[in-house]
Amino acid sequence: MTNSGDLTWWQKTIAYEVYPKSFYDTAAQGTGTIAGITAKLDYLQALGVGAVWITPCYKSPMVDNGYDVADYYAIDPSFGTMEQMDELIARGRERGIRMVMDLVFNHTSEQCSWFVESRKSSSNEYADWYIWRDAKEDGSAPTNWRSIFGGSAWEWCEERGQYYLHTFAKQQPDLNWENPEVRKALFDIANFWADKGVGGFRIDAITYIKKPPVFEDGPADGEDGLYPVHAATANQPGILDYLHEFKAAVRDGRDIFMVGEANGVAASELGQWVGDDGVFDLLFEFSHMHVPMGEAEIWCRPVTWELTDLKRVLAASQEATATNGWYPAFFENHDQPRSTVNFFRCDGPLAAKAKVLGAVLLTTRGTPFLYQGEELGYGNATWKGVGEFDDVQTHAQYDFAKTEGLSDEAALAACTRFSRDNARTPMQWDASENAGFSTARPWLPVHDDYATCNVAAQEQNDGSPLQWYRRLASLRLNTPVLLAGAWRELMEDSEQVLAFERTLGDDRMVTLANFSNEPVTYDPELVAGLSPIAASEGIAAPGRLGPLEAVIWG
Ligand code: NOJ
Repeated sequence: MTNSGDLTWWQKTIAYEVYPKSFYDTAAQGTGTIAGITAKLDYLQALGVGAVWITPCYKSPMVDNGYDVADYYAIDPSFGTMEQMDELIARGRERGIRMVMDLVFNHTSEQCSWFVESRKSSSNEYADWYIWRDAKEDGSAPTNWRSIFGGSAWEWCEERGQYYLHTFAKQQPDLNWENPEVRKALFDIANFWADKGVGGFRIDAITYIKKPPVFEDGPADGEDGLYPVHAATANQPGILDYLHEFKAAVRDGRDIFMVGEANGVAASELGQWVGDDGVFDLLFEFSHMHVPMGEAEIWCRPVTWELTDLKRVLAASQEATATNGWYPAFFENHDQPRSTVNFFRCDGPLAAKAKVLGAVLLTTRGTPFLYQGEELGYGNATWKGVGEFDDVQTHAQYDFAKTEGLSDEAALAACTRFSRDNARTPMQWDASENAGFSTARPWLPVHDDYATCNVAAQEQNDGSPLQWYRRLASLRLNTPVLLAGAWRELMEDSEQVLAFERTLGDDRMVTLANFSNEPVTYDPELVAGLSPIAASEGIAAPGRLGPLEAVIWG
């Protein structure tokens, strides 16, 4: 790659994830709508966004907020209508903003007509569309696998006299990708949406579509006697064959991108997934998310980490996609706690922390994916009791913590730290009631800080995270070295500063981000011949960074 002219539109854009239920409500119902996204296109445009990933808004009983799809060809009435979705796609395109649909293809809702049929008998038309197994001789589940949301990954179906596998909640039965009819049905769905003119797809939980040839118990790793389904089934040999088929049926010949969600793919394997011969254009792998949370993603088992641990995995992902493939940079999504809490080991103002992360995200190599509210510098919410959480996974993690012997307070503290609901509280538009999100009572409580931390207030404040993100987004979109330049880590051993340079021809830019709440010094030679382009705290002296300060030199 020699200049930004060689890049595709999606390599040069900034992507933004919308969790529609919490974005903007135009129906006075307490939950967000598709029309609410259309109403906020100006806001997204001002942020430099060119692609909007919308989490699932298909017809769904909403056990997992849309990740349990009952009908892939229909919009859930709580979000609006198909006409409103078409309108959003069209109005977005007029502004150069393309919609990215979320394809949930590892599983469906138990209410999907395919499963409703499948569960009836082992001889009907859909009998083989899901993963059915007989009970063990004693009547217990076929294996001791623990679902990702906790408890057995198997559910007994009286009607059919068999168990079915669910990697996630029991209302999310896994599809059987071995069956070519299943694959065809899924590819048809993707083509239906591609034909509508969307800009691409985010493909959910792709890690789990291929099951192992033999199903067997694994060694228990918790007091519940279960073994993680992830360890038993993730990224099985042969998975890429299915995905090549997917790519040929949907992606080839279209000007769209596909980003896979593939927990458990190592940086060293990225080439097979997103390289020239890969199956996706981009891959969300979670190695950096595992630094503060731990690979097992068990919230009540705290891990210790240093900044160099985070830097090492970020650098590994960059290096793995340096010449082959492309990287989606992200610090937040709807499954993570807020990044201002997640990626700092020190106290300090959330706004300063948000600007440090924004500097990294918007100047690194790859396509930045922002998550709604990240640009405002949210922290985690305050949760008074487990009953306040909506998220199915949070309740499962709470119950698991209790089986591990934690007190109610300790289990709540673990959930407060890591719950996905921290990312799902309503978007804070202004200081009016319900943060301007809805005129009705929101489905999740708004943050305590909404009166001061909101879009309207930050638009008036030049030093706010929102204005910083807007400035850096514009800088990125207009600076070839930030789009196409090579990436090299600097100061690898520093436990305070994350630093890297970008180079393209004679152009060079350096980002220095102080993740500590102390002033730090560095070798001024790193920025010799360069000038400060942007400084998060407005200071920028060569060789010195203030506490939680980020400076971009160029
Ligand atoms: C990953 C999604 O991001 C998450 O929200 C969902 O719960 C699971 N996959 C199951 O679909």
